[in-house]
Amino acid sequence: MPTAKAVFITGAAAGIGRATALTYAAKGYTVGGYDIDETGLQSLADDVAARGGTPVVSHLDVTDSREMAQRVGEFADAAGNRLDVMINNAGILRAGRFEDIALEAQLAEIDINAKGVVNGLHAAFPYLRSTPGSVAVNLASASAIYGQPELATYSATKFFVRGITEALDLEWSRYGIRVIAIWPLYVNTAMTENVHTGTTESLGIRLTAQDVADAIVAAVDPPLLRRVIHQVHFPVGAQTKASALSARLPLWLQRLLNKHVSGM
Ligand SMILES: NC(=O)c1ccc[n+]([C@@H]2O[C@H](COP(=O)([O-])OP(=O)(O)OC[C@H]3O[C@@H](n4cnc5c(N)ncnc54)[C@H](O)[C@@H]3O)[C@@H](O)[C@H]2O)c1
Repeated sequence: MPTAKAVFITGAAAGIGRATALTYAAKGYTVGGYDIDETGLQSLADDVAARGGTPVVSHLDVTDSREMAQRVGEFADAAGNRLDVMINNAGILRAGRFEDIALEAQLAEIDINAKGVVNGLHAAFPYLRSTPGSVAVNLASASAIYGQPELATYSATKFFVRGITEALDLEWSRYGIRVIAIWPLYVNTAMTENVHTGTTESLGIRLTAQDVADAIVAAVDPPLLRRVIHQVHFPVGAQTKASALSARLPLWLQRLLNKHVSGM
């Protein structure tokens, strides 16, 4: 496979997806940027090219399984029949008390954050299988450590992402495909702009999109030890690493800790 490596990123027009696209561009990748925000994609294409990557951008609504299959196929063709990295990044977050968030908004979170990941993984599989050393990356979140009040449905979608990642890591190891999850706590992007919950107040919003992009690139190509222990979950930042450690506590203690941090 002589062509440049290829990365497909959903939700690439803004935030973490965009920072990741630009980071891969600087490494000379063919960068597939997909989003419902086509204006954002046009400027992304220019920025990818300016950083030395080869841009391929197009509209994609991750909830549409047919469009997903078509876009992934077109991208692999354009990239010279390869798909080295598939990043299921598109996501939305609705914060507030469960009963105050419109049902449609919560169902949309499930469609995009959970079903969108299934669509992406399903469409990408044949191309990942035929590309040696390929990796599927799913955006989980620190909210998949313990169910988060004021983010109940969002948090539940990230437990879904956690589960499918663990399962496919085991299933797809026979094909040499790594499946990993990235776990940031709050990141300063449009997603968290007007979010005020007990945990945003107590923990703050400390990570940048670039912090997460750097963590993704490092996790896709990890040092030998992490490769040998077959690390699946990659917490981002000191706060998330501390939260991940709290998962070792007994559940009653985790509950008390989360009650305290969320101010419930
Ligand atoms: N921001 C955080 O605090 C945080 C923390 C942990 C995990 N994450 C996860 O990281 C991922 C990216 O979040 P972000 O902070 O960059 O968000 P963002 O809102 O900045 O960007 C999300 C992008 O996804 C796109 N998108 C939304 N619906 C889509 C759809 N149906 N199809 C295709 N694209 C769609 C948006 O247009 C936008 O460009 C999400 O999965 C999110 O859950 C974010």
